[in-house]
Amino acid sequence: MEQTAAPARSKWSGRWAFILAAAASAVGLGNMWRFPYLAAKYGGGAFLLVYIVLVVTFGFALMMAETALGRMTGQSAIGAFRTFGKKYLFIGVLASAVPFIITPYYAVIGGWVTKYMAAYIFEGANALAGDGYFTGFILNNPETYLWMAIFVLLVVGVVALGVKNGIERVNKVLMVLLIFMAIAISIFSLTLPGALDGVAYYLIPDFSKFSVEMVVAAMGQMFFSLSLAMGIMITYGSYFDKKEDLEHSVRRIELFDTGIAILAGFMIIPAAVAVQGGADVVANNAGPGLMFGILPQVFQGMGWAASAIGFAFFALVFFAALTSCISLFETLVSIVADGAHLSRAVSVVICAVFVLGMGTLVNMGYNNLLDVDLMYSLFGIGEYQDSQLLDFFDFVSNTILMPIVALLTCVFVGWIIKPKIILTEVRQSSEFKSAKLFTVMIKYVAPVFVVVILVAYIMAAAGIIVL
Ligand code: PHE
Repeated sequence: MEQTAAPARSKWSGRWAFILAAAASAVGLGNMWRFPYLAAKYGGGAFLLVYIVLVVTFGFALMMAETALGRMTGQSAIGAFRTFGKKYLFIGVLASAVPFIITPYYAVIGGWVTKYMAAYIFEGANALAGDGYFTGFILNNPETYLWMAIFVLLVVGVVALGVKNGIERVNKVLMVLLIFMAIAISIFSLTLPGALDGVAYYLIPDFSKFSVEMVVAAMGQMFFSLSLAMGIMITYGSYFDKKEDLEHSVRRIELFDTGIAILAGFMIIPAAVAVQGGADVVANNAGPGLMFGILPQVFQGMGWAASAIGFAFFALVFFAALTSCISLFETLVSIVADGAHLSRAVSVVICAVFVLGMGTLVNMGYNNLLDVDLMYSLFGIGEYQDSQLLDFFDFVSNTILMPIVALLTCVFVGWIIKPKIILTEVRQSSEFKSAKLFTVMIKYVAPVFVVVILVAYIMAAAGIIVL
């Protein structure tokens, strides 16, 4: 009987599948390497507080808006905006451009993580902690293409199996493993001698570090971490049943993502303080340098457990990166399938070719194209001298496109279609307890905040202020 309908859109099997998928998308490299670094840099508990407040207000409003738009229209980003008129289509196009930019470079980093996970088994903690191991691995090394391809093929394989058979199943197993491993590693790091000083550093707020800059950093992190402003939550909302409680689900997703980010801090900060005598190494090293350079040294200092903890940690990061990349790739597939009216299978193939091709290009940024410095030549931004193609794509998506899409989404929902439409959609299945908060955030507070981030980021990139 069900076959009589037009090609049925995939559906989550229920509310928890949706929550898990959105959480799996949210929990990624951002939680693992950026959150602990920002917390260490901006006064521990003070940063945590600001971050949590932003998530439950601003992040909440934007995530409600996106998921409700998806569920209401039953479309991914482009179709969702087009439903309200051709002239709004461009917002969907901009939002959809973001995952096309992020997926290839996310896959390159995913390849590095896969390599490290394997290297803890085959080479051991001492080898990985050696000076220059990381640069030796990523620079001018054909092996990196292979690891990227392995990572991409895993992602493509899962997405090819479909929403229920592939994504839901993998998320269930990997997210549960991830939570247990994060708790186990945190407990282990807390038992290291001297770790409690690290806990104090992490949790006790140092309000002297409070600044506009810190709020801006927390906001940028929140966007990336909750996977907002890139069409993902619209697509995921479109697979969500009209009977399920949206507000409850969004609250759970936030809790999940923020909980794992806080746990990541517990894994990293006390261990760094115990092994290296202070949190400075975490506060002073962002991104890849922290994860692939400093942490292996921290693990090496753990004696007998070094290789096991190193492996467990990178396995956990691998799960987080894999599930996030699956969600990115699923979004690409749904954009291509909806936009070009192609079957899912054909869309999977097209997107796989795209990601492998662009991923290869990004990876060439560390090989044949090492000397190409797009950031510096295009923007003349001194801070980015010697940056790679990966930094360029990261800058364009996170610093330019995502805040613009967030701003357009707020203005679109708050002032053009009006928040009432969203309230009505949410109320189809449940009451909307935070309806007031939602309306005020989406109309007034969020747009102003986003303009602040956008301007601050651009000024920081131009070297006018330091973030
Ligand atoms: N939210 C993920 C993280 O924290 C990153 C991500 C961005 C995942 C966009 C999917 C889409 O790393």
